[in-house]
Amino acid sequence: MDFNIKKICCIGAGFVGGPTMAVIADNCEETIVTVVDINKQKISDWNNSDLKLLPVYEPGLEEIIDRRRNKNLFFSSKVEQAISEADMIFISVNTPTKTKGVGAGKALDLKWIEASARQVAKYAKGHTIVVEKSTLPVKTAESIKKILEAASFNNEEKQFYVISNPEFLAEGTAISDLQNPDRILIGGENKKAVNKLADIYLKWNREEKIIRTNLWSSELSKLTANAFLAQRISSINSISALCEATGADIGEVSLAIGLDQRIGSRFLNAGPGFGGSCFQKDILNLVYLCNFYNLREVAEYWEKVIDINSWQKERISKIVVEKLFGTLTNKKIGILGFSFKANTNDTREAPAIQICRNLLEEGAKLLIFDPKVKPKQIKQDLINTNENDENIQVCTSIYEISKGVDAIIIITEWKEFKDIDWSLMKKNMRSPSWVFDTRDIVDDKEIKSCGINLWKLGSY
Ligand code: NAD
Ligand code: UGA
Repeated sequence: MDFNIKKICCIGAGFVGGPTMAVIADNCEETIVTVVDINKQKISDWNNSDLKLLPVYEPGLEEIIDRRRNKNLFFSSKVEQAISEADMIFISVNTPTKTKGVGAGKALDLKWIEASARQVAKYAKGHTIVVEKSTLPVKTAESIKKILEAASFNNEEKQFYVISNPEFLAEGTAISDLQNPDRILIGGENKKAVNKLADIYLKWNREEKIIRTNLWSSELSKLTANAFLAQRISSINSISALCEATGADIGEVSLAIGLDQRIGSRFLNAGPGFGGSCFQKDILNLVYLCNFYNLREVAEYWEKVIDINSWQKERISKIVVEKLFGTLTNKKIGILGFSFKANTNDTREAPAIQICRNLLEEGAKLLIFDPKVKPKQIKQDLINTNENDENIQVCTSIYEISKGVDAIIIITEWKEFKDIDWSLMKKNMRSPSWVFDTRDIVDDKEIKSCGINLWKLGSY
């Protein structure tokens, strides 16, 4: 395999494919990077001259796109052409939970992975390194290899090398995570192929950051990392409920335990439950795999992480109803934050969706504000509640959500929510007024001095 990687193709221009390829293109100016997608609208949005309209919002992304787009970074819907010209192909397509058939509700739906592998098998030319970038169940490379080997059988000219290179970026910090990753994991049998990919990362990373493993360890490490991270959140959220019952304070408990170096301080923020497209689907997949390998106890252990996460969202909704005298009928409630975390426009599995649905079901009218999520997206996420649209009003400013509301719930930790003038908000609110802070954003004294009742997650 004595060729240089001159052209890279990435199948999937989503939250991972777009930012990851942008950072590769930015660091490897000699390499042509083409990101392809079957979604033509998405490609057109990536090519939009107004950088504010890119399909993904990430701090620092616009600058890189501005620098590299149409120089050595291209977004295209010509999937076949990009595959046929590439020396290295990243598969970065979506792998959501299956909704029907065998493993429905737990296993990952690999139809987009299989379709990508078949396209690569058909259109790739010469020797091609195929990189699994999507998060996949352990052993998926076996299926990808089978599809590719069928196309390269008895054909010395056309050869494939499959390697695994899971992505660990978090949304909202994707660019800095990509520019300065904790580690880069590459799993594969063919050392030369592994080294070709390592060479790309070495353009801006030190060798010590690169971990080389076998394929299966690489695939499984990704699922395990997400399961461990999510487990920390469920652990701290479970303790937040105990704090509320006893007078302990979750912020103080997090600080106290996090200073133990064996525990560490990160990922100990209690909140409304983890959201995002991956934690839940990846743990469900882990549960499915454990059951598949007859490891029932292990499956049950990880399933509890998800149970606590769902319980946290239900618990918060119930507390709001209880505090507002047991009924929300015709009451207005302001919602601050809809994305699943700050600094992203992504709402997939956002805790706000479930909490809003619960409140709508109780008869509330919602006034919702998020600095980055488009109104259309918010409505789309809530529409199947069978509630009519009149009960959902998407606002364009923080202060607008306070008009006539009995309560305001802070669900996402956007930094602008820290600077709210609560005396102004209070003027618009109905009395008695409530603020429900699920992210430890507000200053207790300030809220109380404005005559607003405060419920803070994890506080007495
Ligand atoms: P996404 O839905 O944002 O993007 C996937 C894209 O792939 C979509 O635009 C879709 O149209 C496209 N696609 C699907 N099949 C295709 C095909 N055959 N040809 C061309 N394009 C095709 O998903 P994402 O959030 O980018 O996640 C991708 C993968 O990365 C998933 O496996 C996910 O678990 C993993 N991951 C995600 C994150 C994250 O923060 N979002 C982080 C690490 C890993
Ligand atoms: C997560 C992982 O952090 C990434 O390493 C991984 O690559 C990615 O999933 C993936 O595979 O998709 P992401 O979901 O983008 O990244 O964001 P996180 O920062 O992990 O937050 C996930 C959820 O947990 C958010 O809803 C966030 O608000 C919540 N969270 C996080 C807490 O409630 N408390 C915390 O202390 C940290």
